[in-house]
Amino acid sequence: MLEIKNLSVEIENKKVLNNINLKIPEGETHILFGPNGSGKTSLIMTIIGYPQYKVTGGSILFKGEDITSKSIEYRAKMGIGLAYQNPPVIKGLPLKKLVGLIQKENFKLEAYIDNLKMRELYEREINLGFSGGEKKRSELLQILAQNPDFLFLDEPESGVDIENMDIMGKVLAKFLEREHIKKRKKSGLIITHTGYILDYMNADKGYILIDGHIGCDGNPYQIFEKIKTKGFQECNSCLI
Ligand SMILES: Nc1ncnc2c1ncn2[C@@H]1O[C@H](COP(=O)(O)OP(=O)(O)OP(=O)(O)O)[C@@H](O)[C@H]1O
Ligand SMILES: [Mg+2]
Repeated sequence: MLEIKNLSVEIENKKVLNNINLKIPEGETHILFGPNGSGKTSLIMTIIGYPQYKVTGGSILFKGEDITSKSIEYRAKMGIGLAYQNPPVIKGLPLKKLVGLIQKENFKLEAYIDNLKMRELYEREINLGFSGGEKKRSELLQILAQNPDFLFLDEPESGVDIENMDIMGKVLAKFLEREHIKKRKKSGLIITHTGYILDYMNADKGYILIDGHIGCDGNPYQIFEKIKTKGFQECNSCLI
């Protein structure tokens, strides 16, 4: 579904990613770990297509097509969706209106609005006065509305309490298990520091990103345990 080959990226003339290789097959969910500032968000923003992230080498293939120089809109239409780490406030635009614009045809959203406890927030301007956890539920609702084939979630649980994490985790797990109308299975790449999200899904593979390069890959649950006991630097270059 997604293949990254020898990807190197700069932002503001600073090298943030160095020779990244990843392969995420259809139906698989992979997990990206790594310390603050290691380049996780930059990797996702590059794959999504933000032009300030300048690809200096390598390529990004999605569904077999080279999308390295395609626009954000083109990539979104191909079925890539992102829930942001720090979603912006959009004054004057009610969440309901945005969701109406991005919602995939025939996608049944009503149950998700209720399950994510978004009924009241749905009428409000996007993220204006939303609490940290409300912003994250709103992000999840927006990405589900697009019904993408590939989901990027950048720290979906940051600032979310245990009960709301449970709500989000169950909704997300259900969505990932659903088959697309065209029978395409969902795939995803999730960034997490707390690892809570791992309890709600069968994650297939994990990576540690350190100083812009992949230092380790393997079973995500084992990697998370290793990070908790030994820290990130121990995992650097361990390649479990
Ligand atoms: N617009 C920018 N201008 C300058 N430097 C940037 C810019 N965006 C990102 N960087 C730098 O790139 C590096 C990687 O940042 P990134 O946001 O990808 O890290 P991260 O792994 O997502 O960290 P965190 O866990 O804190 O979210 C950091 O040193 C950051 O300061
Ligand atoms: Mg980040």
